[in-house]
Amino acid sequence: MKIMSVVGARPNFMKIAPFLRALSTAGFDMGNHCLVHTGQHYDAKMSDSFFKQLSIPEPDIDLGVGSGTHAEQVGRTMIEFEKAVRQEKPDWIVVVGDVNATCACALVAKKEHIKLAHIEAGLRSFDLDMPEEINRMVADRLSDILFTTDEIANINLRNEGVPEDKIRFVGDIMIDTLEANREKANAIKIENVVTADERRWTQMSKEGFAMLTLHRPSNVDHKKCLEPLVRYLVDELSREMPLVWTLHPRTRSNLDSFGLLDEVKACERIILLDPLGYLEMLKLNMSTRIMLTDSGGLQEECCVLGTPCVTLRENTERPVTLRENGGVAVLTGNDIERIRHAVSEFKDLPRHAVRPPLWDGHAAERIVKELLGQDREQK
Ligand code: UD1
Repeated sequence: MKIMSVVGARPNFMKIAPFLRALSTAGFDMGNHCLVHTGQHYDAKMSDSFFKQLSIPEPDIDLGVGSGTHAEQVGRTMIEFEKAVRQEKPDWIVVVGDVNATCACALVAKKEHIKLAHIEAGLRSFDLDMPEEINRMVADRLSDILFTTDEIANINLRNEGVPEDKIRFVGDIMIDTLEANREKANAIKIENVVTADERRWTQMSKEGFAMLTLHRPSNVDHKKCLEPLVRYLVDELSREMPLVWTLHPRTRSNLDSFGLLDEVKACERIILLDPLGYLEMLKLNMSTRIMLTDSGGLQEECCVLGTPCVTLRENTERPVTLRENGGVAVLTGNDIERIRHAVSEFKDLPRHAVRPPLWDGHAAERIVKELLGQDREQK
């Protein structure tokens, strides 16, 4: 049995790392496994540092697709991935998550008549304005086996008519990575991550701090959304507690072109950081009083770490992380009044870690076992 695994962008790396480890434990090596990086995320901070920190082996094939519009990214990935598939002739292709690479490679797999497995299947925001929702639907519709993270995902798939024998509830593979790296992250000194001067640092450790990450087009691509948000951060939130903001390249470039970057930089109580490595982000998540984010992955990590999570989105494909379902997150969109309200409610909440069923650090082992079982059935 030969497997080809695919990664493309930052949120894929923490999902593939435990899978590759479990494959290697099951005896897979260069002869029967091949790792493809599509190259959607390519720079050191968005990609290389994750390979190093998470001990992901060098990709066997790098498609070098890079940035572009969605059609450009998906199109270029399909063209290059088809060549890789024809050369390597895998029996199974494994895609993870919901980025453009997931969708493009799922399409190629099916057109090349190769069995397809999707890790993190069944998540639905029911919002087709999100490119990730389209990617998830395509990958799930085409997959021969769908590895799901939680019971709500199972229900979504059943409602779409996916046959029961294709669905495998294995838990959340992101949490495998979190658990494998918890101690390493904990040992990091925050002072080495948040490079603030001594006065700012003393203040931060006295008051505690808030964290912010933003990258979704709906939050950062339009001045009419980003400007009021910056106003709120500078004039209100940062006065209540210092704010550490890790800037995604898309967000930095938009702040700059909307003429907002200098104002944020000038704010004494906002510390701007470049995208962080996995371990550094985990350490900050363990240490912050409150997380403000539009990232789906961080919502899940906050859940297991118990970090109160203000989710700057109107909907989520991960409802299991929401407070009404027992989690730690609340949806606010980018509405300032709702954000203000959530922050005031959340900022003094004690941490309350929540662990949905099978978010136990062993999802990857279950996935590999299932794949090996499929192989045996076909023989
Ligand atoms: C992508 C994913 C999103 C994921 C996010 C996490 C899709 C549809 N979206 O969005 O699901 O949550 O990654 O980061 O796949 N850039 C760099 N360096 C890089 C990569 C990108 O500077 O290494 C710049 C590009 O020039 C581009 C911008 O960042 O303009 C956005 O990159 P892109 O891959 O288009 O999408 P993301 O917003 O990162």
